[in-house]
Amino acid sequence: MNACTRAVVRSSIFYELEIFGIYRGYEGMIDNDIKQFHSHSVSNILQKGGTILKTARCDEFLTKEGRKKAYESLQKNGIEALVAIGGDGTFEGASIFHKEYGIPIIGIAGTIDNDIYGTDFTIGFDTAVNTVLDAIDKIRDTADSHGRIFFVEVMGRDSGYIAIRSAIGGGAEGVMLPENKTTSEDIISYLKEDIRREKTFSIIVVAEKDTPGNTIALAEKCKIALGDKDIRVTILGHIQRGGGPTAHDRVLASRLGLAAVEALRDGKTNDMVGIVNNAVNFVSLEDSFMKNKPLVADLLRLVKILSI
Ligand code: F6P
Repeated sequence: MNACTRAVVRSSIFYELEIFGIYRGYEGMIDNDIKQFHSHSVSNILQKGGTILKTARCDEFLTKEGRKKAYESLQKNGIEALVAIGGDGTFEGASIFHKEYGIPIIGIAGTIDNDIYGTDFTIGFDTAVNTVLDAIDKIRDTADSHGRIFFVEVMGRDSGYIAIRSAIGGGAEGVMLPENKTTSEDIISYLKEDIRREKTFSIIVVAEKDTPGNTIALAEKCKIALGDKDIRVTILGHIQRGGGPTAHDRVLASRLGLAAVEALRDGKTNDMVGIVNNAVNFVSLEDSFMKNKPLVADLLRLVKILSI
């Protein structure tokens, strides 16, 4: 997020535009929590996690009155266009706001979930996956030494992108994804197969789906089915949302920040900018939050083949 904010600010200054930072997302827009930014406002933030602008989930922006207040704040500051960094909720709000007030908006996808249509990668996803891999590499030491089965629960809400990439990168024996509706019976049969092949330990990556913590019940079922197996659960939680960004995320965020500013200068509006096949790509804001981004089917095959 910070790398992206820096890129938007510096690209605007490069093009001799005035640029403002809106704090706490739509909440700050409603409360007029807005400051003019300069080049030095974004110094020394590229490598930092979190967001210097802060963030908030804002119910008031869902109301007409809230959006009216937000528009008035923009007018007070002389703001003529917006770059909105966020996920599908941010884009849905931006799209309604654009329809009501005609203000040009470009969205940039920033979410660890990578579940946004129109971009191969969202900002934060690669960093989150690398955090998960660091954890799996460490968990693997205990799993191996004690001969245990570990279930590692990862974030992603109703998307399995973090889970599938972590399973491949972490050499997991199995993965449970919201998209392919893997059942506990499937996991039990993978684990029985691991035991038959005389694997001494196993790592199963589980996507949190709608209910973080579900993995504990899954592990209990497996314990009952597998008898004397030593099973542990690690829920990684919010560790996945923090920390300095990877090189991939810094470059992605920087490219998208510049592309958003250039798009607004070129008169584009109501679009989201993303990266597809390593090239800048635009889709309508509506498509970005309405259309589904399917998981690459080949990736699941990879986990199955490589875990034999
Ligand atoms: O959408 C990003 C995300 O990190 C999800 O992966 C996760 O389920 C959720 O946000 C956690 O939200 P909160 O911090 O509000 O618990």
